[in-house]
Amino acid sequence: MEVGPLAVITGGSSGIGLALARRLAVSGWTLALVARDAGRLEAAAAELPATTTTHPCDVGDPAELAALAATLTARSDGRIGLLVCNAGMPGGAGALDVTPERARRVMDVNYHGMVGLTRLLWPSLVTAHGRVVNVCSVAGTVALASSAPYAASKHAAVAWSRALAVAAPRDGVRVLTVNPGPVPTPGFPQTALVRHRLWRHATVTADDCAAAIERAIVRDRREIFVPPFWRLAGVLQALAPGTVARLAATRPGRGADR
Ligand SMILES: NC(=O)c1ccc[n+]([C@@H]2O[C@H](COP(=O)([O-])OP(=O)(O)OC[C@H]3O[C@@H](n4cnc5c(N)ncnc54)[C@H](OP(=O)(O)O)[C@@H]3O)[C@@H](O)[C@H]2O)c1
Repeated sequence: MEVGPLAVITGGSSGIGLALARRLAVSGWTLALVARDAGRLEAAAAELPATTTTHPCDVGDPAELAALAATLTARSDGRIGLLVCNAGMPGGAGALDVTPERARRVMDVNYHGMVGLTRLLWPSLVTAHGRVVNVCSVAGTVALASSAPYAASKHAAVAWSRALAVAAPRDGVRVLTVNPGPVPTPGFPQTALVRHRLWRHATVTADDCAAAIERAIVRDRREIFVPPFWRLAGVLQALAPGTVARLAATRPGRGADR
């Protein structure tokens, strides 16, 4: 893989973000990992065979994002080769039981964090002719009643990422939208799916997901689903919303990736 000056990974201390950090470290990138918990960040950095700095930050907080961007810009000398917007949280509620505060918080972390950090680091990405990888979700293409705030935040993220992919090339930056299906991780254990005799085959590991992202970067893809068959969910949603609603009602758990 072509190696840039610095790769920034939000949510780099766990799950998909950490699995991708492991792969990028082996490819020779210098890494900057972002998450809230300083201890988990330090533990992640300690295991990586690459120069790695850690940056405790709540991406849902605009003031913390601004301070983070200033630090990263100074540290990278204004050249960021790769920004992976991956930090995310579950919604933890359905369409009728989510509180307004929770709905706003999920949107702040899963959507505004991505938008805010990308805009703040844009000059450094342009200078480096860098790439942006936005980890969205299949839940950004199909909505389940039990995961309304999460799906809403991911629909917003997918739309924004697709729009950015159209606008970015004029500045010399390329954008990849990543839509994983269920991936058992600490934040999204997918317990019901993993226990189900059929649905468990629809899950992949965090490293499988990271490998697909790495391949997509190398091949300069614009948007991927992981595994690829999950693309059908969005197609079905558009063509046959009634069928999707009936299928969703039979899905185990109250919304696995929610
Ligand atoms: N796992 C799935 O099934 C699945 C499916 C589709 C999409 N995704 C998406 O994939 C991304 C990664 O999720 P994952 O499954 O790898 O989950 P994970 O293992 O829980 O990792 C989430 C990461 O994001 C960080 N994070 C969470 N809230 C944050 C905040 N407010 N500010 C900064 N960092 C924050 C966490 O660290 P701290 O808690 O220390 O902040 C952690 O490093 C998310 O955007 C998720 O929506 C996951």
